Amino acid sequence: MPISERVARLGSGVFARNDSRKRAYTLRLAAAASPPPLGHRSSDNGAAGLPPLLDLSLGSTDLQPPPLALAAIATALQEPRSASYCLHAATLPFRERVAAWAQRRFGVGVDPEREVLLLVGSQEGTAHLPLAVLNPGDGALLLDPHYPSHRGGLELASAQTVLLHLDPEQGWRPDFAALPAQTWDQLKLMVLGFPHNPTATTGQQAWLDEAMARAIDHDLVLAHDNPYIDLALEGEAPALLRHPDWRRCGIEFFSFSKGWCLGGYRIAFAIGGEPLITALRQLKAVVDFNQSLALQAGAIAALDLAPHWPERLRAIYRERRDRMAAALRREGWTVPDATMALYLWLPLPEAARRRGLDSEAMAATLLDATGVCLTPGNGFGPGGEGWQRLALVHPSEDLEAGAARMGAWLRGL
Ligand SMILES: Cc1ncc(COP(=O)(O)O)c(C=O)c1O
Repeated sequence: MPISERVARLGSGVFARNDSRKRAYTLRLAAAASPPPLGHRSSDNGAAGLPPLLDLSLGSTDLQPPPLALAAIATALQEPRSASYCLHAATLPFRERVAAWAQRRFGVGVDPEREVLLLVGSQEGTAHLPLAVLNPGDGALLLDPHYPSHRGGLELASAQTVLLHLDPEQGWRPDFAALPAQTWDQLKLMVLGFPHNPTATTGQQAWLDEAMARAIDHDLVLAHDNPYIDLALEGEAPALLRHPDWRRCGIEFFSFSKGWCLGGYRIAFAIGGEPLITALRQLKAVVDFNQSLALQAGAIAALDLAPHWPERLRAIYRERRDRMAAALRREGWTVPDATMALYLWLPLPEAARRRGLDSEAMAATLLDATGVCLTPGNGFGPGGEGWQRLALVHPSEDLEAGAARMGAWLRGL
């Protein structure tokens, strides 16, 4: 059966690998819960006394979307046109409300006709963008570590990816000056994202401003993935839209998944210079139609009727972050300060390194022994090796119970 080299290059992906491990663990749990066959002792399956799965591996929140957004979706679902294909023109009311949000949020006038595009998630948008702006073999700059689909999108477009290593000693600040001018001249696209997943770093506007200056100098596209814009816990989240020249070469991706907890509904948007929006729209037209008008109604309600929802989430995540960081530190883990919501980014404990565990082996061993599932840092690029990402997607009490299990495991190494 012919399968493309492109797909082979993508590999299985860290979330898929974790998914298989979680499935194996839940099968062991199920086996432990069922009565043993005659003649076997209950401990024969090695699963007796297993703790339940505590999945801290995905940035998929347990928190709920605004009821007004859900009500708007429910109402709009009853309208026959919600079941129809939705072509670009019909997304105008959504794009207009996005433009109004940008005006309120950044004081920026955005043209909803030419500078806004509806997306099926910022993952979809950032993954498709390279196909819209790059030719095979074109150079693209990616932070390392990075969100996995950023790398995947560049692979799909057969880009030559240049990794810019982020250094924890520098607070994960991208050192753009580390790249020679010659490399900059070969680049056509730069993909950034602050607040930054997985390092849990808010970042600074000055970093984006520097990126923008270089993008203009070297005539390349600057894509900024910003689904966490409203989830900075320390400092102010940077945004491309705050730069006066964003139209010249910039495109920024926003999402309803994080600030409004609508991740499963898959709706997001891009704001950018007209040629970029047009190119991405043309590309996407081959792949899909737009999300249903019912989902657009929910997103509009989120922006217009629940603008303060992210603020409520921040208070919850702040408490979770502080309690979990304190609990893990009490258990002997090193926990760097996280400046954005949703994640902790943990260096592998010394004891795990001494046992020869890399991030993937450690995540597998920890899950096997404790039922706590983290995401191994190697899934976020080579620069993520030596780290684990922990998502704060359960109530503080559950997180603290997880920290106790992680502490017992660490002491047993
Ligand atoms: C940096 C980044 N971009 C995109 C996404 C996916 O967002 P969406 O649900 O809008 O596709 C995530 C999800 O965790 C993310 O961390």
